[in-house]
Amino acid sequence: MQSHWFKNAVIYCLEVDVFNDSNGDGIGDFVGLRQGLSYLAGLGVSCLWLLPFFKSPDRDDGYDVMDYLSVDPVLGDLGDFAAFMDEARDRGIRVIIDLVVNHTSNRHPWFQRARRKDPKYHDYYVWRSDPPGDTSKEVAFPGKEKSVWQYDKLAKAYYFHRFYHYQPDLNTANPAVREEIKKILGFWAALGVSGFRVDAAPFVISAKGANVEKQPHESFEFLNEFREFLRWKTGDAILLAEANVPPEQLTDFFGPEGTRMNMLLNFYVNPHLFLAIAQKSPEPILRSLRALPQIPASCQWAYFLRNHDELDLSRLAEPEREDCLRAFAPKKEMQLYGRGIRRRLAPMFNGDLAQTLLGYSIIFTIPGTPVFWFGDEIGMGEDLSLEERNSVRTPMQWSNERNAGFSTAPKEQLRRPVVSKGRFSYRKVNVRDLRREPQSLLNCLERMIRTRKEYPEFGTGSYRILETDRPKVIFAHACEDDGGHAVLAAHNLSDKPETVTVHLWKDSFDHFAYLFEEREDERISDGKIHLKLPGHGYSWLRLAPR
Ligand code: GLC
Ligand code: CA
Repeated sequence: MQSHWFKNAVIYCLEVDVFNDSNGDGIGDFVGLRQGLSYLAGLGVSCLWLLPFFKSPDRDDGYDVMDYLSVDPVLGDLGDFAAFMDEARDRGIRVIIDLVVNHTSNRHPWFQRARRKDPKYHDYYVWRSDPPGDTSKEVAFPGKEKSVWQYDKLAKAYYFHRFYHYQPDLNTANPAVREEIKKILGFWAALGVSGFRVDAAPFVISAKGANVEKQPHESFEFLNEFREFLRWKTGDAILLAEANVPPEQLTDFFGPEGTRMNMLLNFYVNPHLFLAIAQKSPEPILRSLRALPQIPASCQWAYFLRNHDELDLSRLAEPEREDCLRAFAPKKEMQLYGRGIRRRLAPMFNGDLAQTLLGYSIIFTIPGTPVFWFGDEIGMGEDLSLEERNSVRTPMQWSNERNAGFSTAPKEQLRRPVVSKGRFSYRKVNVRDLRREPQSLLNCLERMIRTRKEYPEFGTGSYRILETDRPKVIFAHACEDDGGHAVLAAHNLSDKPETVTVHLWKDSFDHFAYLFEEREDERISDGKIHLKLPGHGYSWLRLAPR
């Protein structure tokens, strides 16, 4: 059955302008990305998520869109996009793209007309004429903006912006705006994309403007509307939402019948996973998994470790946040917006391979779809001299050649500098070198991806947390499908080796097989399994029925 392809996908998120530059102008492009597909196919990636690549003044790295139906000319043209899509399809790789419709760039023609009071476009945005008062607590990026209202001289009114002042919010309550959104969905669906990552979904559907108190708070039916539209356009395209809201509010984004978002990026388990590693205890992971709502059978979580933004710790309690900062971002310059960490994965773990793999193993085995941030599969580092979240958006490190093999342009022309100092320099951390090392992070992850795909139970089976005799350090769980196929994963959160007895939930298993270790199968007696795990080690097992 081909349905629900996203449940067993391996998603790889990347930014075209820093991935691979084909023409030596210092900026990655679609031709370069097409050339990079063989690497991604070899790694086992089955779905790419492209960050915004549309025409944009690029003040928020493309999240300020000027023309939704275009490719930014520096990245190529629609022909290059189509050729890339074609080759991705040949290699069995689906493509999803960012849908950034909470706001536009202030240079978008819609906004330019709106501020001149064009009757058609004025209501595409959200205005007020009286001074707004203090709204500093409502801004998305504390410290960078002071208000969610900005005065516009031409309109002689204030416009609403949840994010930066150059990103006026679209008035999604206006049916004409929702028609524009559907036009965008239809356009890219016609060009073959398999779905959209819905940027800032809670804000897209929230009531906006001066009199929000008087309006209903959220309009979830907009999500039904978009999903319905997409379903008619293409059978299996998905909506993957960014919805960083408390767990009890997540259900509404899937919808009670699963008719809204197909997948949600799980921003709740994410910080708890890092807390668990910081505290060397599975307790935060278990707590966060248990707090999640049951989701409709047709829906799925998307799990990630790091992404293109800050690691948001605001869902943790103050002392927990401090534990994470102490462990992973001890310097002020590593922190951002008073709530997060602007570092890449590998340096957060001081380049420790075991901890990095432990993190990946957890997001590969808990019920959901794993999502990579490009470069994290080779353990790239960050550049803290770059502003805000750009620290984790430096170019892909392909080799130890000039500019990490990313571009032949003179260094000063690169879109962003390549990491060239310290232990994460491209001279040491690059695809070509890691590929030749059998036990490198890259090769371990390639095996992990292959194994995850061979055992779809991890993505679709019903899962249960298992009891062990070492509950303070071991996280063990199992996933079982309707046909009785079962897999088990055990994770050691402590940095010391552990011996553990895991209790199975039924005694109908005969033996188990190790999926990674070179070890013989073992018999199962009295419904228990005994394992030895190194510090920060993990084990995946296949349980064979009698
Ligand atoms: C989302 C994106 C972020 C962007 C913001 C505004 O949070 O992940 O990168 O800055 O939306 O579009
Ligand atoms: Ca280029």
